[in-house]
Amino acid sequence: MKIFNPFDRAHGVDISDFMMRLVEARTTKKGIEIFAFHEVPIDPGIIQEGEIKNYAKAKEQLERLYKKINGRVNSPFAIVAVPERKTFTKVVQMDALPPAELAEAIRWEAEQHFPVSLEEMYLTWSLLQTSEKKHTILLSATDKSLLEQYIELFADVQKHIIIAEPESFAIQRALLGQSTIPTLIIDLGASKTSLAIVSRGIVQYTSTISFSGRELTLLIAKELNLKEEQAERAKTLFGLNPKKSKGVVRDLLIDKFSPLVQHINEVLQYYQTNFDQSQPIQKIVLCGGGSQMEGIHTFLSETLRLEINNPIPLINKNKKMGSKFTEKKVLSFTTALGLALRSELQKPFQMLSKTV
Ligand SMILES: Nc1ncnc2c1ncn2[C@@H]1O[C@H](COP(=O)(O)OP(=O)(O)OP(=O)(O)O)[C@@H](O)[C@H]1O
Ligand SMILES: [Mg+2]
Repeated sequence: MKIFNPFDRAHGVDISDFMMRLVEARTTKKGIEIFAFHEVPIDPGIIQEGEIKNYAKAKEQLERLYKKINGRVNSPFAIVAVPERKTFTKVVQMDALPPAELAEAIRWEAEQHFPVSLEEMYLTWSLLQTSEKKHTILLSATDKSLLEQYIELFADVQKHIIIAEPESFAIQRALLGQSTIPTLIIDLGASKTSLAIVSRGIVQYTSTISFSGRELTLLIAKELNLKEEQAERAKTLFGLNPKKSKGVVRDLLIDKFSPLVQHINEVLQYYQTNFDQSQPIQKIVLCGGGSQMEGIHTFLSETLRLEINNPIPLINKNKKMGSKFTEKKVLSFTTALGLALRSELQKPFQMLSKTV
């Protein structure tokens, strides 16, 4: 018997600074299939670091996104991602208190761990493990004003946000699934680069730096006196490959990678020292459009001396959508896909984490 799921077919929406992306996934006899996906670009300045700076334009673009996908996405329920910089998460061990005392204890724990006033945050939690005496709890605090902006924006286009989660959770779900191999995920986006360490199947630590695809494009444009579109093309065609265009683009870009490499090493070191010494990071996976750059895998694996790959999420490709949802597309749609999978992989009662 199929139990009615009120949030069935909720879709994922990833709002980045330069793009809005939507994915709807459905469970079929063949497994999880991509049923719909689409993206619309956003002009610079409308969204900055996830914050809506120009509400009218953001609404226009969100309307366009839904219009483009009209007929394929019928559910009003959306699952959205919140940039890491606007969230805090922490796994804590707590005494297994009776429910009436637990909420207060969780609030107290959050106050100890998060460097912000809880008045400005939405605090939620979910139970990861429980035994007779101890609970393992995932605490999550999200910037209240950002979340309220998103809720209003979606309501304005007759959609309802049912879940907002840190971007790293969605990416982990899409790329690693249930894997427990200690892994560093690097998302090389247009406006930022985010690192997430996943160990024991949980995002343990995240960090975001300003290293971005757009910054690289603008550098090429400036140094080679090109228009932005031409510079974008040069970056895509030649990347870090020393053999292409006599290595001119690589020579321009390579110094920009030093702070990224340094930061990756610091994060690995920090994790090794402060978290789980018994579980060293065994592999690095890349996602985000920047992970398609020519030569980036060779460069990073030689520099970091770790295995680097782009895992392709296991999705059965719907006949109509399959050919369009290429492996390259998946790398930019990873967040939206992970959000959509939350609706498909988890039952509604598990989806609603408790708000304190
Ligand atoms: N083949 C390629 N070589 C180099 N860079 C590429 C390539 N393809 C895409 N990119 C870059 O990837 C970036 C876009 O990545 P992505 O789509 O993951 O960003 P985003 O999710 O919109 O932004 P963010 O996650 O930073 O908010 C752009 O800067 C683009 O130039
Ligand atoms: Mg992104």
